[in-house]
Amino acid sequence: MNPEGNLKQRGQWSSRFGFVLAAAGSAIGLGNIWRFPYVAGENGGGAFLFLYLICILLLGLPVMIAELTIGRHSGKNPVGAFEAIRPGSPWKIIGYLGVITGVCILSYYSVLAGYTVGYIGKSIAGNLSSYESFTSNAMISLPLFAAFIALTCFVVQGGVRNGIEKWARILMPVLFVLMIILIIRSVTLEGAGRGLSFYLKPDFSKITGKTFNAALGQAFFSLSLGMGAMITYGSYIKKDDNLVISGTFVAFFDTLIAIMAGLLIFPAIFAMNMDPTEGTGLVFKVLPEIFRLIPGGTIVGAFFFILLSIAALTSTISLLEVVTAYLVDEKHWLRSKTVWIVGGITFVVGLPSLLSQEGMVPWLADLPLVHTSFLGLMDWIFGNVMLGVGAFFIAIFVGWVWKNGDSTKEILSGFPGFGRIAPVFYFLLKYICPILILVVLFFLIKSGA
Ligand code: PHE
Repeated sequence: MNPEGNLKQRGQWSSRFGFVLAAAGSAIGLGNIWRFPYVAGENGGGAFLFLYLICILLLGLPVMIAELTIGRHSGKNPVGAFEAIRPGSPWKIIGYLGVITGVCILSYYSVLAGYTVGYIGKSIAGNLSSYESFTSNAMISLPLFAAFIALTCFVVQGGVRNGIEKWARILMPVLFVLMIILIIRSVTLEGAGRGLSFYLKPDFSKITGKTFNAALGQAFFSLSLGMGAMITYGSYIKKDDNLVISGTFVAFFDTLIAIMAGLLIFPAIFAMNMDPTEGTGLVFKVLPEIFRLIPGGTIVGAFFFILLSIAALTSTISLLEVVTAYLVDEKHWLRSKTVWIVGGITFVVGLPSLLSQEGMVPWLADLPLVHTSFLGLMDWIFGNVMLGVGAFFIAIFVGWVWKNGDSTKEILSGFPGFGRIAPVFYFLLKYICPILILVVLFFLIKSGA
């Protein structure tokens, strides 16, 4: 099939702006607002933020552009893309790993997304007190989890332009404005200053191998890299779009929202004498406290959780889209059937994560040997290690295997000036990314979950 025909059949973003919003929708999600603050809190605040920004620049950005380039060049899902560029080689295994990682991340991510939806109702009911009593009630969390997966399936069924782009276009800017308002409230609380200095003044003595691991994993997770989401989204970009500028925009907005989430959460944590190392429940405990201090907090809280649910939805959509694009392109399944089958599998895979939360099934909440919850383990394996592994091979692939000429041509087609920055791009991909990822993965596996 010729690539143009293939693209037409698969759909395309309506414009560069449409792509940037959809990809930013994938990148911006619970990773920024739930995961970033709790990981930063556990890893020393400012020192973490500093390393995180370095990881975004040196690793995140080049891998982002590499994924988009692979995607647009091949016009395919991750498995098909590696196969198209290096037919008959084992490289497509990286695509398969991405597809599996996608389902696994989607499974526990949807559990948390379900909580977010639940918090809309809790806000309206004015009952935002106990996080534990909420998560331990399967009668509530299970239907929410199932409903969130169903909603994701529903949108992905609609295809690229109508389904995904339309949602992202309207709602991401609203989230941005609401966050600014909440930040103003948070930083003007009494005692907020200590939170600001925890978050913004790096204490370099706190940097350890673990801080570095956490920063690198978070950079890939937050930018949706290492599992082919950006390969898949790249496959819907037009040939004359500038991949470098688009990718940079996405990384910029994603990082901005993460930094803003920190500005929202940390001043409030310190002002309320809460513990920044609280763990996965952190934002669900802190945010309600902020809303309580705002006039009309019930409405603001409900509205915030609505937007957060939507930010989560634009991310789950991209996770499901990877698997769906693979099955539709390669196995010729019907899109409408595929999404529901994959949704069903995701539900089953996600059940132990759901049951591992606060006081439901004790052994799942504290697994033998690793001493973390099942959800925590899934996040560690798939949200950290597997994304690092994927990003490592993607960097090697574009840096060393796929002739520079070809990838360069692909980027040049929308960005004639690329030649000037190409040496920096390939240097980062060839040397810096693989070496740093290897060092960090080594520590990550050595130190355990
Ligand atoms: N980047 C998303 C977030 O920050 C999560 C995600 C990871 C989405 C990997 C797709 C792929 O919420």
